[in-house]
Amino acid sequence: MYPYNSIRDYVEELERRNKFIRIKEIDQDKYESTALIYRILDRMGDKAPGFLAERTKINGKWFDSPVVGNIYNGYDTVALCFGVKNVTDISIEMYNAAVARIQSFLQPDGRWKEIDPEVIDRKDAPCKEVVLLGENADIMKFPWIKNSPLDAAQYISAGSFVMHDPDIGKNVGTYRIQIKGNQKIGAYFTNQSHAYAMMMKAAERGEEKVQASIAVGIDPISWIMSSTRLADMGTDEFAVAGGFRGKPVDLVKSETNDLLVPAHAEFIIEGEIPMETEEEGPYGEMFGYLGKKTTAFYLNIKAITHRRNPWVFNIYTGAGSGYFTMPWDVGNYVRLKKLLPTLVKTYTPPNAPTVGILSINKKFPGEGFEAGMLALGYRMYGFSKKIIVVVDSDVEPSDMSRVLHAIATRWQPVPASLLVSHSIHMPIDPSLSEMFKSSKIVIDATRQLPSEGGPECFAPDLRTSLDEMVPEAFKLVDKKWDTYFAK
Ligand SMILES: Cc1cc2nc3c(=O)[nH]c(=O)nc-3n(C[C@H](O)[C@H](O)[C@H](O)COP(=O)(O)O)c2cc1C
Repeated sequence: MYPYNSIRDYVEELERRNKFIRIKEIDQDKYESTALIYRILDRMGDKAPGFLAERTKINGKWFDSPVVGNIYNGYDTVALCFGVKNVTDISIEMYNAAVARIQSFLQPDGRWKEIDPEVIDRKDAPCKEVVLLGENADIMKFPWIKNSPLDAAQYISAGSFVMHDPDIGKNVGTYRIQIKGNQKIGAYFTNQSHAYAMMMKAAERGEEKVQASIAVGIDPISWIMSSTRLADMGTDEFAVAGGFRGKPVDLVKSETNDLLVPAHAEFIIEGEIPMETEEEGPYGEMFGYLGKKTTAFYLNIKAITHRRNPWVFNIYTGAGSGYFTMPWDVGNYVRLKKLLPTLVKTYTPPNAPTVGILSINKKFPGEGFEAGMLALGYRMYGFSKKIIVVVDSDVEPSDMSRVLHAIATRWQPVPASLLVSHSIHMPIDPSLSEMFKSSKIVIDATRQLPSEGGPECFAPDLRTSLDEMVPEAFKLVDKKWDTYFAK
């Protein structure tokens, strides 16, 4: 089955793994699917299944196009997306297996492996099964979800903008899309985004509008490329997706422009973005709080093409999980490692994206702070981080109980903390009193050496000692694991 060509192929695999449910109907006028997301995550955590609702009620009207949610929950799903063999339910193992698999695609020259996409004939492209042009291209025909009663409107929460700029190159990026009218939608490109850079370039050249085609409901690796900054600006992210898949991504030409879009997408929305902005939002942001009303570009729709009975793929931003952004962390690890040879692993908890955990191979005094300061000062990583926790390499950064144990037992708030009174920071963190400005902290939870103010001789950690002194102990248990539970 791997690599998955479409969101449907991937969901079939989730179903085989009993991690997907089908629901007859959802009353989104009562925010049923949003409440469902909160509840299944409360009760089942990273084991909560994805779902497909066959009918959805929105603004008093029942829609028959299915709505799909929560299909990227848990590190087993990241492992599935990247083709890890032997996917299990053990979260930490799946996290590490997925990281290793993603890193295996890094080439000796530091670039990700690429396989160019293949352009296929439109008659073979499922996204062209239904073509809506002119006034027929009406976005209100489909059940786009309003996640929160506080959102300004219904949103297409998980669309991938395909754009091309002659000076910059190609881009595919996920940016939220406010439904503004039957043929008008928002295009919220933050000033850090590559799409924004393309708008600025086009403005410099004196152009009045930019073409874009938006794909909704695409194969998991193309989706991850679109929604994380794994590849650098100008890289053909569909080629990188091909490299990860070991097989080209099928693309097809848009109806009303020359942009090449994923042929197996559920929807393609084509249009033009004029060089002007207008009011956008507010919108429930990824941090779980309502964002501020802002301004953004918008797109005038020229065509909509879609599969028969198309699936509305929704991300419950602010309520749901952020596991699929994990590869972004791997990209940042690769970038940081070049600057920091002591770095062993990095981890960002999916529900606490301002926290960064780094494990290091500490040999000399000061290396804990060095790692923390460097990570904070590195824009790609430090921009979104407010709290950096540095741990020794025997602590697994993706295991929160072990990280907390290290903080509780290896850390002294004085002197092993470094407070930064103000630094540049992600504006959507609701704790900021001034946009882009946050205080930050490095918690050095590595064992403190005597010259750092630590004890003369740090007490041996019992678990680490067992692993070092009797290395076969854990291996033996792993090997016999299933036999302990055999009936
Ligand atoms: C569900 C979801 C919604 C997002 N919404 C936005 C958005 O509205 N604006 C934005 O600039 N970035 C948004 N992002 C982050 C971008 O997708 C991410 O930075 C990606 O790397 C953008 O592509 P780029 O690096 O080519 O700009 C979102 C990410 C996800 C997963």
